[in-house]
Amino acid sequence: MSTPHDPSLDAYWMPFTANRQFKQRPRLLTQASGMHYRTDDGREILDGVAGLWCVNAGHARPRIVQAIARQAGEMDYAPPFQMGHPKAFEFADRLSQLTPAGLNRVFFTNSGSESVETALKIALAWQRARGQGTRTRLIGRERGYHGVNFGGISVGGIVGNRKMFGTLLGGVDHIRHTHDLERNAFSRGQPAHGAELADDLERLVALHDASTIAAVIVEPVAGSTGVLIPPQGYLQRLRDICDRHGILLIFDEVITGFGRTGQPFAAQTFGVTPDLMTVAKGITNGCVPMGAVFVKQEIHDTFMNGPEHLIELFHGYTYSAHPLACAAGLATLDTYAEEGLLTRASELQDYFADGLHSLRGLPHVIDVRNIGLVGGVELAPGPEGPGRRAFNVFLDCFEQGVMVRTTGDIIAMSPPLIIERAQIDRLIETLRTALKRAA
Ligand SMILES: Cc1ncc(COP(=O)(O)O)c(C=O)c1O
Repeated sequence: MSTPHDPSLDAYWMPFTANRQFKQRPRLLTQASGMHYRTDDGREILDGVAGLWCVNAGHARPRIVQAIARQAGEMDYAPPFQMGHPKAFEFADRLSQLTPAGLNRVFFTNSGSESVETALKIALAWQRARGQGTRTRLIGRERGYHGVNFGGISVGGIVGNRKMFGTLLGGVDHIRHTHDLERNAFSRGQPAHGAELADDLERLVALHDASTIAAVIVEPVAGSTGVLIPPQGYLQRLRDICDRHGILLIFDEVITGFGRTGQPFAAQTFGVTPDLMTVAKGITNGCVPMGAVFVKQEIHDTFMNGPEHLIELFHGYTYSAHPLACAAGLATLDTYAEEGLLTRASELQDYFADGLHSLRGLPHVIDVRNIGLVGGVELAPGPEGPGRRAFNVFLDCFEQGVMVRTTGDIIAMSPPLIIERAQIDRLIETLRTALKRAA
């Protein structure tokens, strides 16, 4: 069946996109600078989502652009297996100074999804290396998003990402999600109720026995499912249960990493330290694909035995620690440091929260959630079915020159950390107009 659209758009099968809708009314971005995109028809779009939660320092930052260009000319590629290049070591060392205490070993990947697979594999391999080889079970959480590879969708908990793809990984279970509109709707920051939901892990321990469980993975703030903020005390309780049972705790900080919640990492914002942490996105300000897993030194050290000429971990990617990514990452860390961006969200969060919560009372708004520079507005589903109303709001905002994101009936915002107050106002007022019109 053919549809009346430009055939030149046909070949590209777009990811996580309503392809037919898009190709009938394309939204093409051609330039970006600072807080703004520019479209192919010359319109300026305020970036309310940092691209896709990744361009934390804003677009086309000169230091980063120059570092990438310089590196491409100096050395385009270096193999990461049995070889190294100085910037890889420098970048890992610089990153290890930002992470929570003890998480000072860095394994490089090329995306959040790869970071998740890497962390799950390290967790399994570590349990085996320390003589606990029966611990093969991985635990995720309902509504979790951990990328799109098989490990990630297995521990993930978003049904649309799972149902088409067969039986997934065996030996995976999930704890309950923390969303509780009845008790927590319109909470500012961390909701008061729900710490006890962490006890669901005790239920799984009782069911499977701790001796079968390797690790638990959660997003400290669940982003892709629609901005679920952890209830007060919840993450600490999860940490305590993991400690009690010898289970590794993995925080997936792919979106919360690099300043999103007001500290460099959400682990620091919430005062809970995991054993492994996955990151990507803001690690290079989104400019070159890269991810990483931060690992506690003692976990890393467990692998460092046996004959010294042997490979300790049979895992890695052709593009692990790619020179362009390392150059971009180092320049990104310089930019973050010079402009105080990794803590700027803590200065702006009250202002942002005031704006967001002023949307309460608009038609169909059933919840508003916020932490740092992350905001979520949940709508009641409309008569046309789940997701449609929020999608209309997204399209309306884009027409008005502002980019937000939607998942299901939730509108998410995560602007670059360089955002100014007047731009927060613009973001909120545009959304207000669209919400009124979506009634
Ligand atoms: C928490 C989390 N983990 C993993 C990923 C996957 O990252 P990527 O798309 O770079 O593979 C994402 C992406 O949004 C994410 O939010």
